[in-house]
This record gives sequence, C-alpha cells and structure tokens, in this order.
Amino acid sequence: MATIRDSFHSRLGFVLAAAGSAIGLGNIWGFPTQAANNGGGAFVLVYLIVTILLALPALYAEIYLGNQTQKNPVGALSEACQRFMPKAGKAAGLIGLMGAIMMLSFYTIVAGWMLAHALAALTEMLGMVELSTWLSSSSMTRDLLFTPIFIVLGAAIVHQGVNAGIEKWSSRLMPILLFMLIGLIVYILQQPGAMEGLAVYLIPDFSQVTDPKLVISAMGQAFFSLSVGVGGMMVYGSYMKKGKDLGKLVVSIAALDAFIAFLAGLLIIPALFVAQTAGVEVFNNGKLIGEGQLIFSILPTLFNSMGEMGLVISFVFFALLSIAALTSTISVTEVPVAYLVEEKSYHRTKATWLISALVFCTSLLVIVFFDVLFELVIQVLTTLIQPLMCLFYFIVVGWIWQRGNKLRDQAAIEAKPALKWWANYLRFVCPILLSVVFVNVAIIN
Ligand code: PFF
Repeated sequence: MATIRDSFHSRLGFVLAAAGSAIGLGNIWGFPTQAANNGGGAFVLVYLIVTILLALPALYAEIYLGNQTQKNPVGALSEACQRFMPKAGKAAGLIGLMGAIMMLSFYTIVAGWMLAHALAALTEMLGMVELSTWLSSSSMTRDLLFTPIFIVLGAAIVHQGVNAGIEKWSSRLMPILLFMLIGLIVYILQQPGAMEGLAVYLIPDFSQVTDPKLVISAMGQAFFSLSVGVGGMMVYGSYMKKGKDLGKLVVSIAALDAFIAFLAGLLIIPALFVAQTAGVEVFNNGKLIGEGQLIFSILPTLFNSMGEMGLVISFVFFALLSIAALTSTISVTEVPVAYLVEEKSYHRTKATWLISALVFCTSLLVIVFFDVLFELVIQVLTTLIQPLMCLFYFIVVGWIWQRGNKLRDQAAIEAKPALKWWANYLRFVCPILLSVVFVNVAIIN
C-alpha cells in the first residue's frame, strides 16, 4: 500500500518555510559584508539584477521540479530524466545531496559560533564573566561543543516531520526574526555615525558596477541566498499540493529574501560606522578589516562600548542569526532525510539521526582541518556545485523532461502567452546566461 506523503498544510506555511530556508547567515552576514566591501549601493543594484535574471528562475525551476513530481530531489531528477538519461538524473540528484552535506558541514560550524555568542551575552548579563569570555573566544573545543548542539537542534525539528516540525517551527521563528531585526535597526540608526553608513549603503558607486568580480560575487551570493542548487527548495516544493500558482509563490519567497538582506544591510553597515565613530578601526583602504570577521570583531567591540544595553543588543543580534541559521539548516537536512525515507525505506527518525551523525563527521573534518577545508568547501559549493546544478535544472526543465512537464506541453503554452514566454526564457536565455557567467568565473579564478 502506498503511504501518504507528509506535506505543508497551507500556502503560507510553505512560503514561511521556504523563506526560512532562504533567509539565513547569507542574508544577515554575507550580504552586508559583501555590500560593504563592493561599493555599497552598487553591489545592491547588481545583486538585484542577478537575482531577477538568474537566481529567481533557478528557484522556480527547482521548486517546479519538486512540486510537479512530488518526489525527493533524487527521485524527482531521475523521473524528469527518465526518458533520455535516467542515470544522469539520478547522478545529479546524488551530487545535489552531496552538496547538501557539504553545505551543512560548514554552515553548522558557523551557526554554532552564533549560538555561542548569544550565550556569551546572556552569561555576561548573569555575571559569569569567565564563561562568557570562553564562549566569545574562538577555540576548537568550543566548536566541538556547539556544532553538535546546533546539529541536534536542527534534527529535533526535522525528525518531527514536515507539518509538525518544519512548518510549525518556521511559522513561529520567522516572525520573531523579523521583529528582532527591525528592533535592532531602530536602535542602531539612532546612534552617532549611523547616518553616514546609511548613505554609503544606499548611494551606489557606479564606477564599480561593471567590475566582473562584482557580478560574480553578486551571483554567488544570490544563489546561496535563495538556497538553490542543493535540493532544499525542491524537497519543500514536493511537499506542497500540485497545481498551485508557483510563479507568485516563488516571487514572494525571493522578495522576502531580498527584503531581509536589505534590512540586514540597514543594520550592519550603519553599525560599522557607529563603531568607527566610537573609535573602532573598521576600514583599511576602503575594505573592511578582517573581511568576513566583522561580526565577531567589530560588532562585539561596538556592543561592549554600549554598556548594559550593549549586552541586550548583542544577545538579540546573535539569537537572530542563530534562528536564521536554524531554519536554513532544517531545509538542507531534509534533502538527504527525504532520500533515505523515500528511496531506501528508512523510518524518518532513524534517517534524521543517521544524517545528523554523518553531518557531524563531515563538520568534524572541517573543524580539525579548518585552515585547509573551510574556505575550500564554501568555494566548491557556491561557485561550482550550486551554479552547475542550476544549469542542470534549466536543461532538464527546458529540454529533457517531457511527460508531466507543463512547460513542454505545446497546447498549454500556446494557450497562455505568459507561460510560453517564461518557458522560452528558462529554455534558451537562462542556460546561456549562466554558462557565460560560469566561463567568466573559470577565467577569473
Ligand atoms: N540561503 C541560506 C542563507 O542565505 O544563509 C543558505 C542555504 C540554505 C544555502 C539552504 C543552500 C540551501 F539549500
């Protein structure tokens, strides 16, 4: 007897879970850091263009594949490629699955840092100064404790299932995240120096817009931010009833993602200038000191200079990052879990803990060989696996997949001009555009 698949119970639940996947460390840490380093408003502008032209269509293709086939990513890609290249479909699904494990192997480490920093603020409030200092200083022991704590948090949600775990928790956590973010922005914008940061963030320096490196950074950021290319969005799409108006849903997810990234910029970039006004060294030759480390060096120094209030701000800030990371982590964990449950008949709880153990082993490798592996894993995932998987989605949806693919159904697309236009855009423009950028990445690297 066929078992009924677990599913999202409402469209809102789906949008919040998918937005929860998209909105993560990439928005609140990655986006503002990249914007601060790449000409502020110029980066924002290029980011928006790349998102609309490429990342959003990739998100559509990924969700569409899951939704139409109602299968986990390995099953979905195998089915879509069944007629012409079934093995390639399965292989691509498994590569995406590997990408999901790679993503978790570094993401859970960084998420663990956020959790440790949130606890550092809390313990300092309680007068446990020594513990707080330990929690806020990086060390391998700290990683060995907080990475598994974070993995277990994610597993505790995923093992409960799609509706009772993922949908319920995303619907609770996402509004809290928005509330915290707005509260922090209101506070920071009132501090001396904030307005100067606001101007740098919002006024584009057009001389940087055509720099190919800027376009490539923006593309990597857009793909990572919309969570495309490892199957997380595909598996979520498969848990929604077939036949919903995917276009509208995809646009709302991308809009929420861009909106939160934009808000995070309104918080972080003014905060950097507040720190500078307070005497902290922030920029050197127009570049941020310590590049991505701003969250752990510059901002804590700023929070420390704010006295008691600084501790509260610091706690809220790192709790916000931990929540954002958690809702992203669960979507990626769901990819291999759904595979084991559907293709290998595992019980969900067993599959969740098995995958969590595997993720812990891979993150352990990254922790131990941090200097060699951390940047490398991020680089391979974001500049190779994610764009290549998206290219594969475009080719499958546009060319390979016939039966069950509305976008290849001549009668359906002839009847709706917008659908025809969209089908042709995915079929011709997206693969070419993505290949051009991809070749450029290869040349520049
Ligand atoms: N979109 C997440 C972020 O911006 O932090 C990261 C991410 C989640 C990437 C899920 C890939 C993924 F499948």
